[in-house]
Formats: sequence, structure tokens, C-alpha cells
Amino acid sequence: MSTWGGHRIDHVGIAVHDLDAALLLYGALARDRPVHRETVPHDGVEVAFLQLPGASLELLASRRDDSAVANFLARRGEGLHHLALAVPDIGAELDRWRGLGAELIDKAPRAGSRGMLVAFIHPRSAHGVLVELCQRS
Ligand code: CO
Repeated sequence: MSTWGGHRIDHVGIAVHDLDAALLLYGALARDRPVHRETVPHDGVEVAFLQLPGASLELLASRRDDSAVANFLARRGEGLHHLALAVPDIGAELDRWRGLGAELIDKAPRAGSRGMLVAFIHPRSAHGVLVELCQRS
């Protein structure tokens, strides 16, 4: 099990242009494990989660021209997008990051995909890595 600061890595997010094409490859690599696919209107994305033994892969495709993922793809192209940590108390964890002087994209937890509570930390505050905190609700 992967841990970081005592927290498990829940998933790694990968931004892709074409969700179906990405699923062909990553689905095969994941030996055709079940895929959870969901549109997240708040973020303007469609996501597909592949559950691997230690953590999941989240493939993200933009479904709105002004989404953060559309921006990311335009600036950087496809690739690693974020690292998500599973935390037991997302409010307390946000306070901890705030206390470390981090710039929070989400000042408070909000609803994300898979019924999770999520909050993002700006990459400027994590050496270039967009960090997602997530808690099962
Ligand atoms: Co994510």
C-alpha cells in the first residue's frame, strides 16, 4: 500500500484528449478490470476510474471548452495531471495544508466524483504537483 504523510494514494489523474482511446490502452493494461465512468458537471470533465491493486488511475477528458482540464491539455498536452490522497478527515487535512502556507484551490471540501468529498491544492504550493485530497463520504 502506498502512503504519503500517513495517507494512502487513492489515485493518479491523467489528462487525455480521447477517453475511449485512453481506455483501450489503460483498460488493457489494467487487464480489463471494471471501469467506473462518470461525468462531473462542476469540473466540466468526464472521468474513468480503473481500480488497480494499490491505487486507481483516473483518466480525465474535458467536456467543456473552459474546463481546467481543457486548459491543461492546451498548455501541456496529455499527461500526469494530479495526485490524489485518501484522507480520513478532509477538513482537518485542508487546515493542515493551510497551516503550511499552501494555496488552496478549494477553500472547503466539495462534492467530487464517486460520491467523494474533494479539495484541490494549487501546484504552486506542492512543487508543481496538483494535489487532490479526497474522503469517502
Ligand atoms: Co482525481
